[in-house]
Amino acid sequence: MTKKFYIETMGCQMNKSDTERLEGMLLYYGYEKTDNDKDADFLLLSTCAIRQTSVDKAYSQLGVWGKRKKNKPSLKIGICGCVAELDKDKIFRRMPYVDLIFGTHNIFAFPEFLKRVENGEQVCEITTKPVPEPMDDLKVNRKSKVTAWIPIIEGCNNFCTYCVVPYTRGRERSRYPKLIINEAKKVIENGIKEITLLGQNVDSYGKDLNNPDITLANLLRELNKIDGKFRIRFVTSYPTDITDDLINAVAECDKVCEFFHIPMQSGNDRILKEMNRRYNREQYCKIFNKIRNKFDDVEITSDFIAGFPSETEEEFEDTLSVIKELNIDYSNTAIYSPRPFTKAGRMTDLFIPEEVKEERFKRLHKVNCEATLKSNKKLEGKTVEVLCDSSKIHKGELTMNGRTRTNKLVHFKSDKDLTGKFVNLKITKAQTWCLYGEIV
Ligand code: SAH
Ligand code: SF4
Ligand code: F3S
Repeated sequence: MTKKFYIETMGCQMNKSDTERLEGMLLYYGYEKTDNDKDADFLLLSTCAIRQTSVDKAYSQLGVWGKRKKNKPSLKIGICGCVAELDKDKIFRRMPYVDLIFGTHNIFAFPEFLKRVENGEQVCEITTKPVPEPMDDLKVNRKSKVTAWIPIIEGCNNFCTYCVVPYTRGRERSRYPKLIINEAKKVIENGIKEITLLGQNVDSYGKDLNNPDITLANLLRELNKIDGKFRIRFVTSYPTDITDDLINAVAECDKVCEFFHIPMQSGNDRILKEMNRRYNREQYCKIFNKIRNKFDDVEITSDFIAGFPSETEEEFEDTLSVIKELNIDYSNTAIYSPRPFTKAGRMTDLFIPEEVKEERFKRLHKVNCEATLKSNKKLEGKTVEVLCDSSKIHKGELTMNGRTRTNKLVHFKSDKDLTGKFVNLKITKAQTWCLYGEIV
């Protein structure tokens, strides 16, 4: 009988992209995918360690799966991703029913791990030496038929003092341009209409490949030459690593969308320094405004943390003021969570009380919502092109979901399913989390 697998993915797009590759390998080796974890013979949890809440969520899910094994001893349970990378074989001590632990550097060795687990072995393989990807015929089971993630660089060399990513994803490693371009060509041939280049720090792309011509800007130019109508995006950018050449490439290349995700983290200079971010408020604002002024219509989004150790009320207010001052289109916001191995995680004497962090977070969320609504309102009455990525029946009517080039979500009614199509819409109404439009 064919064995069934189920992968639950937590965390960022890099984890989601890894899952698509792991699923591709499982399908290739004869497993069948199921959307119900209760039907699975092999359960895999792809985990995130960015905040303690995500780690707790991972362990509680493993606990639920572990109980299930009592009634189904043949069930195999695996854990991968960032928590696996951090906790390694300690996980076996806590959860002896786990069969497989592997890290973020060796997903391409997964078929071998699977075989050993099938033979009854308990496997823990964490390595800091990256296992190279296959040079041809990469197996990927993409979730969407319309959009595709393509990783271009993994890892991070920045060591922001609050962040665990350098410890979970290792140092920066770029994929060769040829691999990326071939993967892009393949997905476009298969009907994909939008590719998103992924990296913790996309601006560092190529720096480790010792060839000054290999840069994100040049990669965008190469990808832009691929025939067909499709869009190109890239995330995430580090403020002071964004070059004029990159901004020019975005402006030059018709397929590259006018969208930048540039996390700022705090609006206060002392806190930015404590965070080991390599810019101050003025420098961030300068880059932000340079991009704003270059394009007629561009979306710039950010990330902010509330309650970093030692942050005073006045310093926190600088974060609120910068969102308003710059009219940041949207921000991911988070409450500071102490992380293992990090410098800020050791500043225990300076931790901000939970209730103060939460209260700051609420205000941050409110200011962010106001800024997002303001940004969305600017589109009311305008005509924009969206790419339809999904549909649903709402109150008996077919409703399409599309994204503008600037990555805003628009709902609109249609008499037929337009998934995968580019459509021009007039924006009729703007809300905080979405826009509404009509086909023109
Ligand atoms: N490479 C990206 C971000 C990766 S992590 C960058 O440089 O910004 C995604 C976001 O999680 C970060 O931007 C940050 O806002 C948030 N984050 C990271 N560590 C955190 C922590 N310890 N507590 C709360 N939020 C955190
Ligand atoms: Fe984390 Fe900083 Fe690297 Fe982003 S740049 S992944 S926040 S260490
Ligand atoms: Fe989480 Fe790892 Fe991504 S910690 S945010 S899944 S790189």
